Amino acid sequence: MNILSVASEVYPLVKTGGLADVAGALPAALLPHGIRTRTLLPGYPAVLHKLKKPKAAGRIANLFGHPATVLAAEFDGLDLLVLDQPALYDRDGGPYLDPTGRDYPDNFRRFAALSLAAAEIAGDDVVPGWKPDIVHVHDWQAALTPVYMRFGSARNMPTVLTIHNIAFQGQFGASVFPELALPPEAFSMPFVEYYGDVGFLKGGLQMATAITTVSPSYAHEILTPEFGMGMEGLLASRAMDLTGIVNGIDVDTWNPETDPHIARHYGPTAIKQRAANRKALEDRFALDDSRGPIFCVISRLTWQKGMDLLAEVADDIVALGGKLIVLGSGDSALEGALMAAASRHRGRIGMVTGYDEPLSHLMQAGSDAILIPSRFEPCGLTQLYGLRYGCIPIVARTGGLTDTVIDANEAALSARVATGFQFHPVTADGLRLAIRRAMRAYGEPKVWARLQNQGMKSDVSWAKSAERYASLYSGLLAKG
Ligand code: ADP
Ligand code: GLC
Repeated sequence: MNILSVASEVYPLVKTGGLADVAGALPAALLPHGIRTRTLLPGYPAVLHKLKKPKAAGRIANLFGHPATVLAAEFDGLDLLVLDQPALYDRDGGPYLDPTGRDYPDNFRRFAALSLAAAEIAGDDVVPGWKPDIVHVHDWQAALTPVYMRFGSARNMPTVLTIHNIAFQGQFGASVFPELALPPEAFSMPFVEYYGDVGFLKGGLQMATAITTVSPSYAHEILTPEFGMGMEGLLASRAMDLTGIVNGIDVDTWNPETDPHIARHYGPTAIKQRAANRKALEDRFALDDSRGPIFCVISRLTWQKGMDLLAEVADDIVALGGKLIVLGSGDSALEGALMAAASRHRGRIGMVTGYDEPLSHLMQAGSDAILIPSRFEPCGLTQLYGLRYGCIPIVARTGGLTDTVIDANEAALSARVATGFQFHPVTADGLRLAIRRAMRAYGEPKVWARLQNQGMKSDVSWAKSAERYASLYSGLLAKG
Protein backbone atom coordinates (compact mmCIF):
# COMPACT_ATOMS: atom_id res chain seq x y z
CA MET A 1 0.00 0.00 0.00
CA ASN A 2 1.26 3.50 -0.84
CA ILE A 3 0.47 6.52 1.31
CA LEU A 4 1.05 10.16 0.48
CA SER A 5 1.54 11.91 3.81
CA VAL A 6 1.31 15.71 3.74
CA ALA A 7 2.70 17.85 6.56
CA SER A 8 4.10 21.33 7.07
CA GLU A 9 6.93 20.09 9.32
CA VAL A 10 8.81 16.81 9.52
CA TYR A 11 11.57 15.85 11.97
CA PRO A 12 14.58 15.88 11.48
CA LEU A 13 14.28 18.43 8.67
CA VAL A 14 12.08 21.09 10.23
CA LYS A 15 10.32 21.12 13.59
CA THR A 16 8.39 23.54 15.75
CA GLY A 17 6.48 20.95 17.77
CA GLY A 18 5.12 17.44 18.06
CA LEU A 19 3.58 17.35 14.58
CA ALA A 20 7.10 17.11 13.14
CA ASP A 21 7.98 14.22 15.44
CA VAL A 22 4.86 12.32 14.39
CA ALA A 23 5.19 13.00 10.65
CA GLY A 24 8.84 11.97 10.89
CA ALA A 25 8.36 8.75 12.85
CA LEU A 26 5.12 7.20 11.62
CA PRO A 27 6.41 6.14 8.15
CA ALA A 28 9.05 3.78 9.58
CA ALA A 29 6.50 2.30 11.98
CA LEU A 30 4.12 1.54 9.09
CA LEU A 31 6.74 -0.28 6.99
CA PRO A 32 6.37 -3.65 8.79
CA HIS A 33 2.71 -3.52 7.75
CA GLY A 34 3.66 -3.36 4.07
CA ILE A 35 2.79 0.35 3.96
CA ARG A 36 5.16 2.64 2.10
CA THR A 37 4.84 6.34 2.84
CA ARG A 38 6.04 9.27 0.76
CA THR A 39 5.95 12.53 2.68
CA LEU A 40 5.25 15.84 0.94
CA LEU A 41 6.49 18.99 2.69
CA PRO A 42 7.32 22.55 1.63
CA GLY A 43 10.81 23.35 0.39
CA TYR A 44 11.80 25.81 3.12
CA PRO A 45 15.50 26.82 2.94
CA ALA A 46 16.20 24.72 6.06
CA VAL A 47 14.85 21.68 4.24
CA LEU A 48 16.53 22.29 0.87
CA HIS A 49 19.92 22.81 2.52
CA LYS A 50 19.77 19.46 4.24
CA LEU A 51 18.78 17.38 1.23
CA LYS A 52 21.50 15.37 -0.43
CA LYS A 53 21.17 14.97 -4.18
CA PRO A 54 17.47 15.72 -4.57
CA LYS A 55 16.09 14.75 -7.99
CA ALA A 56 13.39 16.62 -9.86
CA ALA A 57 10.58 14.09 -9.75
CA GLY A 58 7.84 16.24 -11.23
CA ARG A 59 6.65 19.68 -12.17
CA ILE A 60 3.51 21.67 -11.60
CA ALA A 61 3.26 24.27 -14.36
CA ASN A 62 1.09 26.72 -12.49
CA LEU A 63 0.86 26.74 -8.71
CA PHE A 64 -0.82 30.05 -7.87
CA GLY A 65 0.88 31.83 -10.73
CA HIS A 66 4.32 30.23 -10.51
CA PRO A 67 5.80 26.96 -11.70
CA ALA A 68 6.83 24.53 -8.95
CA THR A 69 9.18 21.57 -8.87
CA VAL A 70 8.55 18.45 -6.85
CA LEU A 71 11.90 17.15 -5.64
CA ALA A 72 12.37 13.57 -4.52
CA ALA A 73 14.94 12.72 -1.87
CA GLU A 74 15.71 10.22 0.86
CA PHE A 75 16.56 11.59 4.28
CA ASP A 76 17.15 9.56 7.40
CA GLY A 77 14.99 6.73 6.06
CA LEU A 78 12.20 9.08 4.96
CA ASP A 79 11.04 9.02 1.35
CA LEU A 80 10.38 12.70 0.71
CA LEU A 81 8.68 14.80 -1.90
CA VAL A 82 9.65 18.43 -1.42
CA LEU A 83 7.60 21.20 -2.96
CA ASP A 84 10.15 23.67 -4.29
CA GLN A 85 8.56 27.03 -5.00
CA PRO A 86 10.85 29.89 -3.92
CA ALA A 87 8.19 32.62 -4.15
CA LEU A 88 6.26 30.82 -1.40
CA TYR A 89 8.88 29.16 0.75
CA ASP A 90 12.27 30.82 0.28
CA ARG A 91 12.02 33.08 3.31
CA ASP A 92 14.08 34.04 6.35
CA GLY A 93 12.32 32.93 9.50
CA GLY A 94 10.49 29.74 10.46
CA PRO A 95 7.91 27.69 8.62
CA TYR A 96 5.03 29.94 9.73
CA LEU A 97 6.54 33.10 11.23
CA ASP A 98 8.83 35.80 9.89
CA PRO A 99 12.01 36.70 11.80
CA THR A 100 10.05 39.18 13.95
CA GLY A 101 7.62 36.44 15.05
CA ARG A 102 4.64 37.48 12.91
CA ASP A 103 2.64 35.12 10.69
CA TYR A 104 3.61 35.49 7.04
CA PRO A 105 0.71 37.43 5.51
CA ASP A 106 0.37 34.90 2.69
CA ASN A 107 0.25 31.76 4.86
CA PHE A 108 -3.13 30.96 3.36
CA ARG A 109 -1.50 30.78 -0.08
CA ARG A 110 1.65 28.98 1.13
CA PHE A 111 -0.38 26.13 2.63
CA ALA A 112 -3.16 26.10 0.06
CA ALA A 113 -0.31 25.51 -2.40
CA LEU A 114 0.95 22.57 -0.35
CA SER A 115 -2.56 21.08 -0.40
CA LEU A 116 -3.15 21.76 -4.09
CA ALA A 117 0.20 20.17 -4.97
CA ALA A 118 -0.74 17.10 -2.89
CA ALA A 119 -4.07 16.79 -4.70
CA GLU A 120 -2.33 17.01 -8.06
CA ILE A 121 0.29 14.44 -7.09
CA ALA A 122 -2.55 12.13 -6.02
CA GLY A 123 -4.66 12.61 -9.11
CA ASP A 124 -2.55 13.71 -12.01
CA ASP A 125 0.66 12.48 -13.47
CA VAL A 126 2.83 14.95 -11.54
CA VAL A 127 5.26 12.28 -10.31
CA PRO A 128 5.35 9.90 -13.27
CA GLY A 129 4.95 6.27 -12.36
CA TRP A 130 3.83 6.87 -8.76
CA LYS A 131 0.37 7.16 -7.22
CA PRO A 132 -0.75 6.75 -3.63
CA ASP A 133 -3.65 4.54 -2.57
CA ILE A 134 -4.56 6.90 0.30
CA VAL A 135 -3.67 10.50 1.12
CA HIS A 136 -3.06 11.21 4.82
CA VAL A 137 -2.89 14.91 5.72
CA HIS A 138 -1.93 16.59 8.98
CA ASP A 139 -3.43 19.73 10.57
CA TRP A 140 -4.84 22.85 8.90
CA GLN A 141 -1.79 23.46 6.77
CA ALA A 142 -2.55 20.35 4.72
CA ALA A 143 -6.30 20.21 5.34
CA LEU A 144 -7.42 21.67 2.02
CA THR A 145 -5.99 18.61 0.26
CA PRO A 146 -9.24 16.58 0.47
CA VAL A 147 -11.14 19.67 -0.74
CA TYR A 148 -8.92 20.09 -3.80
CA MET A 149 -9.12 16.33 -4.39
CA ARG A 150 -12.91 16.49 -4.39
CA PHE A 151 -12.76 18.87 -7.37
CA GLY A 152 -9.86 17.13 -9.13
CA SER A 153 -9.04 13.79 -10.68
CA ALA A 154 -8.40 11.99 -7.36
CA ARG A 155 -11.97 12.52 -6.16
CA ASN A 156 -12.48 8.86 -5.29
CA MET A 157 -9.24 8.27 -3.44
CA PRO A 158 -9.70 7.88 0.35
CA THR A 159 -8.24 10.58 2.59
CA VAL A 160 -7.37 10.72 6.29
CA LEU A 161 -7.11 14.01 8.16
CA THR A 162 -5.29 13.96 11.49
CA ILE A 163 -6.02 16.77 13.95
CA HIS A 164 -2.96 17.44 16.08
CA ASN A 165 -4.42 20.51 17.72
CA ILE A 166 -7.88 21.88 17.04
CA ALA A 167 -6.89 25.28 18.40
CA PHE A 168 -5.12 25.94 15.12
CA GLN A 169 -7.74 26.04 12.39
CA GLY A 170 -6.35 28.08 9.51
CA GLN A 171 -9.19 30.58 9.41
CA PHE A 172 -8.89 33.47 6.96
CA GLY A 173 -11.15 36.27 5.72
CA ALA A 174 -13.52 35.57 2.85
CA SER A 175 -11.36 37.79 0.63
CA VAL A 176 -8.80 34.98 0.26
CA PHE A 177 -11.35 32.65 -1.32
CA PRO A 178 -10.98 33.89 -4.94
CA GLU A 179 -7.24 33.25 -4.65
CA LEU A 180 -7.63 29.58 -3.73
CA ALA A 181 -8.42 28.31 -7.22
CA LEU A 182 -11.52 26.50 -5.97
CA PRO A 183 -14.87 26.57 -7.81
CA PRO A 184 -17.38 29.12 -6.42
CA GLU A 185 -19.57 26.38 -4.92
CA ALA A 186 -16.75 25.54 -2.51
CA PHE A 187 -17.49 28.72 -0.59
CA SER A 188 -20.44 27.13 1.18
CA MET A 189 -21.30 25.22 4.34
CA PRO A 190 -20.49 21.71 3.07
CA PHE A 191 -17.03 22.90 2.03
CA VAL A 192 -14.73 25.68 3.30
CA GLU A 193 -17.13 28.43 4.36
CA TYR A 194 -16.90 28.95 8.12
CA TYR A 195 -19.02 31.68 9.75
CA GLY A 196 -18.49 33.83 6.66
CA ASP A 197 -14.74 33.16 6.60
CA VAL A 198 -12.66 30.50 4.90
CA GLY A 199 -11.73 27.61 7.21
CA PHE A 200 -8.96 25.33 6.03
CA LEU A 201 -9.40 22.78 8.82
CA LYS A 202 -13.16 23.10 8.55
CA GLY A 203 -13.09 22.24 4.84
CA GLY A 204 -10.82 19.28 5.48
CA LEU A 205 -13.05 17.95 8.28
CA GLN A 206 -16.03 18.08 5.91
CA MET A 207 -14.29 16.35 3.04
CA ALA A 208 -11.85 13.81 4.53
CA THR A 209 -12.99 10.21 4.36
CA ALA A 210 -11.72 9.55 7.89
CA ILE A 211 -10.69 11.87 10.70
CA THR A 212 -8.25 10.96 13.41
CA THR A 213 -6.82 12.78 16.36
CA VAL A 214 -3.84 11.93 18.49
CA SER A 215 -5.40 10.32 21.57
CA PRO A 216 -8.70 8.64 22.47
CA SER A 217 -9.41 11.14 25.27
CA TYR A 218 -8.92 14.13 22.99
CA ALA A 219 -11.21 12.47 20.43
CA HIS A 220 -13.98 12.60 23.08
CA GLU A 221 -13.06 16.04 24.37
CA ILE A 222 -13.28 17.77 20.98
CA LEU A 223 -16.92 16.75 20.74
CA THR A 224 -17.64 19.13 23.63
CA PRO A 225 -17.88 22.95 23.53
CA GLU A 226 -15.11 23.21 26.14
CA PHE A 227 -12.49 21.67 23.86
CA GLY A 228 -14.03 21.66 20.36
CA MET A 229 -13.12 25.31 19.67
CA GLY A 230 -16.30 25.77 17.64
CA MET A 231 -15.83 22.56 15.63
CA GLU A 232 -17.78 20.32 18.05
CA GLY A 233 -20.99 20.40 16.01
CA LEU A 234 -19.30 19.51 12.76
CA LEU A 235 -17.28 16.81 14.50
CA ALA A 236 -20.41 15.36 16.09
CA SER A 237 -21.91 15.01 12.63
CA ARG A 238 -18.83 13.02 11.66
CA ALA A 239 -18.42 11.10 14.92
CA MET A 240 -18.68 7.73 13.13
CA ASP A 241 -15.59 8.61 11.09
CA LEU A 242 -13.56 10.03 14.00
CA THR A 243 -11.02 7.95 15.94
CA GLY A 244 -8.34 8.73 18.49
CA ILE A 245 -4.99 7.00 18.01
CA VAL A 246 -2.36 7.88 20.57
CA ASN A 247 1.06 8.97 19.32
CA GLY A 248 4.14 6.87 19.84
CA ILE A 249 7.71 8.09 19.84
CA ASP A 250 10.77 7.25 17.80
CA VAL A 251 12.46 4.90 20.26
CA ASP A 252 15.76 5.03 18.34
CA THR A 253 16.09 8.81 18.46
CA TRP A 254 14.90 8.75 22.07
CA ASN A 255 16.96 5.98 23.63
CA PRO A 256 18.95 6.69 26.81
CA GLU A 257 21.21 3.74 26.03
CA THR A 258 22.51 5.32 22.82
CA ASP A 259 21.48 9.01 22.89
CA PRO A 260 24.42 11.10 21.58
CA HIS A 261 23.16 14.23 23.36
CA ILE A 262 23.47 13.02 26.95
CA ALA A 263 26.45 12.86 29.30
CA ARG A 264 26.11 9.20 30.35
CA HIS A 265 24.15 6.35 28.81
CA TYR A 266 21.87 4.25 30.98
CA GLY A 267 18.98 1.82 30.76
CA PRO A 268 16.29 0.42 33.05
CA THR A 269 18.83 -1.73 34.89
CA ALA A 270 21.33 1.07 35.46
CA ILE A 271 19.15 4.00 36.42
CA LYS A 272 21.76 5.20 38.93
CA GLN A 273 23.91 6.25 35.96
CA ARG A 274 21.46 9.11 35.46
CA ALA A 275 23.40 10.94 38.21
CA ALA A 276 26.06 11.99 35.67
CA ASN A 277 23.38 13.58 33.52
CA ARG A 278 21.95 15.37 36.53
CA LYS A 279 25.40 16.77 37.26
CA ALA A 280 25.77 17.93 33.63
CA LEU A 281 22.42 19.71 33.91
CA GLU A 282 23.38 21.41 37.17
CA ASP A 283 26.45 22.79 35.41
CA ARG A 284 24.53 23.81 32.32
CA PHE A 285 21.84 25.67 34.28
CA ALA A 286 24.20 26.95 36.99
CA LEU A 287 22.26 25.12 39.71
CA ASP A 288 23.61 24.34 43.14
CA ASP A 289 24.19 20.70 44.04
CA SER A 290 21.51 20.43 46.75
CA ARG A 291 19.76 17.07 46.93
CA GLY A 292 16.13 17.79 46.11
CA PRO A 293 14.52 16.69 42.86
CA ILE A 294 15.05 18.62 39.64
CA PHE A 295 11.78 19.37 37.88
CA CYS A 296 12.08 20.24 34.21
CA VAL A 297 9.83 21.85 31.62
CA ILE A 298 10.42 21.58 27.85
CA SER A 299 7.63 23.44 26.17
CA ARG A 300 6.19 26.14 24.04
CA LEU A 301 5.57 28.93 26.56
CA THR A 302 1.83 29.42 26.06
CA TRP A 303 -1.46 29.49 27.92
CA GLN A 304 -2.35 26.08 26.40
CA LYS A 305 0.69 24.61 28.12
CA GLY A 306 -0.26 26.14 31.48
CA MET A 307 2.97 28.10 31.68
CA ASP A 308 1.29 30.83 33.72
CA LEU A 309 0.50 28.16 36.35
CA LEU A 310 4.13 27.10 36.32
CA ALA A 311 5.23 30.70 36.95
CA GLU A 312 2.81 30.81 39.90
CA VAL A 313 4.24 27.71 41.57
CA ALA A 314 7.94 28.30 40.83
CA ASP A 315 8.61 29.81 44.28
CA ASP A 316 6.85 26.89 45.98
CA ILE A 317 9.06 24.37 44.20
CA VAL A 318 12.10 26.07 45.68
CA ALA A 319 10.46 26.41 49.11
CA LEU A 320 9.77 22.67 49.12
CA GLY A 321 13.44 21.94 48.39
CA GLY A 322 13.22 21.26 44.68
CA LYS A 323 14.90 22.84 41.68
CA LEU A 324 13.35 23.87 38.38
CA ILE A 325 14.81 24.13 34.89
CA VAL A 326 12.89 25.45 31.92
CA LEU A 327 13.63 25.26 28.20
CA GLY A 328 11.16 27.05 26.00
CA SER A 329 10.11 30.02 24.02
CA GLY A 330 6.86 31.69 23.09
CA ASP A 331 4.70 34.29 24.80
CA SER A 332 6.99 37.09 25.96
CA ALA A 333 5.02 37.82 29.17
CA LEU A 334 5.33 34.17 30.24
CA GLU A 335 8.98 34.13 29.27
CA GLY A 336 9.47 37.26 31.41
CA ALA A 337 7.64 35.76 34.41
CA LEU A 338 9.79 32.63 34.32
CA MET A 339 13.01 34.58 33.84
CA ALA A 340 12.05 36.70 36.84
CA ALA A 341 11.60 33.51 38.90
CA ALA A 342 15.04 32.35 37.74
CA SER A 343 16.66 35.59 38.85
CA ARG A 344 14.87 35.45 42.22
CA HIS A 345 16.26 31.97 42.80
CA ARG A 346 19.70 31.77 41.27
CA GLY A 347 21.12 28.31 41.75
CA ARG A 348 17.66 26.80 42.18
CA ILE A 349 15.80 27.82 39.04
CA GLY A 350 17.44 27.93 35.62
CA MET A 351 16.02 28.96 32.31
CA VAL A 352 17.13 28.69 28.71
CA THR A 353 14.98 30.51 26.21
CA GLY A 354 14.86 29.33 22.63
CA TYR A 355 14.74 25.99 20.94
CA ASP A 356 17.46 23.43 21.64
CA GLU A 357 16.88 19.85 20.61
CA PRO A 358 20.10 18.36 22.14
CA LEU A 359 19.49 20.14 25.46
CA SER A 360 15.94 18.74 25.54
CA HIS A 361 17.45 15.23 25.51
CA LEU A 362 19.89 15.99 28.33
CA MET A 363 17.05 17.45 30.41
CA GLN A 364 15.00 14.26 30.07
CA ALA A 365 18.08 12.23 31.00
CA GLY A 366 19.12 14.24 34.07
CA SER A 367 15.94 15.70 35.59
CA ASP A 368 13.89 13.73 38.10
CA ALA A 369 10.48 14.79 36.85
CA ILE A 370 8.92 16.68 33.96
CA LEU A 371 6.03 19.07 34.60
CA ILE A 372 3.25 19.30 31.98
CA PRO A 373 0.40 21.47 33.34
CA SER A 374 -1.43 21.81 30.00
CA ARG A 375 -4.99 23.16 29.90
CA PHE A 376 -5.54 20.96 26.89
CA GLU A 377 -3.19 18.50 25.25
CA PRO A 378 -4.19 16.51 22.18
CA CYS A 379 -1.46 13.97 22.89
CA GLY A 380 1.78 15.47 24.19
CA LEU A 381 5.12 13.88 23.54
CA THR A 382 7.38 15.14 26.29
CA GLN A 383 5.68 12.89 28.87
CA LEU A 384 6.43 9.93 26.60
CA TYR A 385 10.11 10.94 26.35
CA GLY A 386 10.03 11.34 30.13
CA LEU A 387 8.69 7.80 30.62
CA ARG A 388 11.40 6.38 28.39
CA TYR A 389 14.14 8.34 30.21
CA GLY A 390 13.10 7.70 33.81
CA CYS A 391 12.05 11.35 34.17
CA ILE A 392 8.72 11.04 35.93
CA PRO A 393 5.84 12.89 34.29
CA ILE A 394 3.62 15.13 36.42
CA VAL A 395 0.73 15.96 34.13
CA ALA A 396 -2.62 17.68 33.94
CA ARG A 397 -5.42 15.16 33.53
CA THR A 398 -6.42 16.12 30.01
CA GLY A 399 -6.27 14.69 26.49
CA GLY A 400 -3.38 12.41 25.69
CA LEU A 401 -1.78 13.06 29.08
CA THR A 402 -4.69 11.15 30.63
CA ASP A 403 -4.15 8.24 28.27
CA THR A 404 -0.39 7.85 28.62
CA VAL A 405 0.51 8.41 32.28
CA ILE A 406 -0.78 6.13 35.04
CA ASP A 407 -1.32 8.09 38.26
CA ALA A 408 0.52 6.89 41.34
CA ASN A 409 -2.62 6.37 43.43
CA GLU A 410 -2.75 3.63 46.06
CA ALA A 411 -4.30 1.06 43.71
CA ALA A 412 -1.83 1.70 40.89
CA LEU A 413 1.10 1.71 43.30
CA SER A 414 0.17 -1.62 44.81
CA ALA A 415 -0.53 -3.12 41.39
CA ARG A 416 2.93 -1.82 40.34
CA VAL A 417 1.65 -0.08 37.26
CA ALA A 418 1.96 3.60 38.24
CA THR A 419 4.23 5.72 36.06
CA GLY A 420 3.66 9.32 37.15
CA PHE A 421 1.27 11.85 38.66
CA GLN A 422 -1.91 13.32 37.24
CA PHE A 423 -3.73 16.34 38.61
CA HIS A 424 -7.09 17.98 38.19
CA PRO A 425 -8.39 20.69 38.19
CA VAL A 426 -5.72 22.35 36.11
CA THR A 427 -5.01 25.26 38.44
CA ALA A 428 -1.97 26.50 40.31
CA ASP A 429 -3.28 24.72 43.43
CA GLY A 430 -3.80 21.50 41.49
CA LEU A 431 -0.23 21.68 40.22
CA ARG A 432 1.11 22.54 43.68
CA LEU A 433 -0.60 19.49 45.17
CA ALA A 434 0.83 17.23 42.48
CA ILE A 435 4.30 18.60 43.13
CA ARG A 436 3.87 17.88 46.84
CA ARG A 437 2.78 14.32 46.08
CA ALA A 438 5.83 13.90 43.87
CA MET A 439 8.14 15.32 46.55
CA ARG A 440 6.75 12.80 49.03
CA ALA A 441 7.37 9.93 46.62
CA TYR A 442 10.86 11.25 45.92
CA GLY A 443 11.52 11.01 49.65
CA GLU A 444 10.96 7.26 49.44
CA PRO A 445 13.70 6.09 47.09
CA LYS A 446 12.14 2.66 46.60
CA VAL A 447 8.82 4.10 45.49
CA TRP A 448 10.54 6.57 43.17
CA ALA A 449 12.77 3.89 41.62
CA ARG A 450 9.75 1.70 41.02
CA LEU A 451 7.91 4.54 39.26
CA GLN A 452 10.96 5.16 37.10
CA ASN A 453 11.28 1.50 36.31
CA GLN A 454 7.63 1.07 35.44
CA GLY A 455 7.79 4.11 33.16
CA MET A 456 10.92 2.92 31.41
CA LYS A 457 9.32 -0.45 30.80
CA SER A 458 6.08 0.92 29.40
CA ASP A 459 5.63 0.66 25.67
CA VAL A 460 5.80 4.14 24.21
CA SER A 461 6.86 2.96 20.76
CA TRP A 462 4.78 3.36 17.63
CA ALA A 463 4.11 -0.39 17.39
CA LYS A 464 0.52 -0.52 18.64
CA SER A 465 -0.58 2.77 17.12
CA ALA A 466 0.98 1.98 13.73
CA GLU A 467 -1.14 -1.15 13.75
CA ARG A 468 -4.22 1.01 14.31
CA TYR A 469 -3.36 3.32 11.42
CA ALA A 470 -2.68 0.27 9.24
CA SER A 471 -6.09 -1.19 9.99
CA LEU A 472 -7.77 2.18 9.45
CA TYR A 473 -6.10 2.41 6.02
CA SER A 474 -7.08 -1.17 5.10
CA GLY A 475 -10.66 -0.51 6.17
CA LEU A 476 -10.82 2.54 3.90
CA LEU A 477 -9.50 0.60 0.92
CA ALA A 478 -11.86 -2.30 1.59
CA LYS A 479 -14.83 0.09 1.58
CA GLY A 480 -13.67 1.17 -1.89
P1 ADP B 1 3.32 20.64 20.98
O1 ADP B 1 3.47 19.99 19.65
O2 ADP B 1 1.92 21.02 21.32
O3 ADP B 1 4.28 21.77 21.19
P2 ADP B 1 4.29 18.07 22.03
O4 ADP B 1 4.54 17.63 23.42
O5 ADP B 1 3.48 17.18 21.17
O6 ADP B 1 3.69 19.55 22.10
O7 ADP B 1 5.65 18.22 21.24
C1 ADP B 1 6.60 19.17 21.55
C2 ADP B 1 7.91 18.73 20.91
O8 ADP B 1 8.77 19.85 20.80
C3 ADP B 1 8.66 17.71 21.74
O9 ADP B 1 9.47 16.94 20.88
C4 ADP B 1 9.52 18.60 22.64
O10 ADP B 1 10.65 17.93 23.14
C5 ADP B 1 9.88 19.70 21.68
N1 ADP B 1 10.16 21.00 22.27
C6 ADP B 1 9.27 21.90 22.75
N2 ADP B 1 9.89 23.03 23.12
C7 ADP B 1 11.20 22.83 22.88
C8 ADP B 1 12.37 23.64 23.04
N3 ADP B 1 12.29 24.88 23.51
N4 ADP B 1 13.56 23.12 22.66
C9 ADP B 1 13.63 21.86 22.17
N5 ADP B 1 12.58 21.06 22.00
C10 ADP B 1 11.38 21.54 22.34
C1 GLC C 1 0.11 19.06 18.64
C2 GLC C 1 -0.43 18.91 20.04
C3 GLC C 1 0.32 17.88 20.86
C4 GLC C 1 0.60 16.63 20.06
C5 GLC C 1 1.30 16.99 18.77
C6 GLC C 1 1.62 15.77 17.91
O1 GLC C 1 1.15 19.96 18.57
O2 GLC C 1 -0.47 20.14 20.73
O3 GLC C 1 -0.43 17.54 22.01
O4 GLC C 1 1.41 15.75 20.80
O5 GLC C 1 0.50 17.84 18.02
O6 GLC C 1 0.47 15.05 17.58
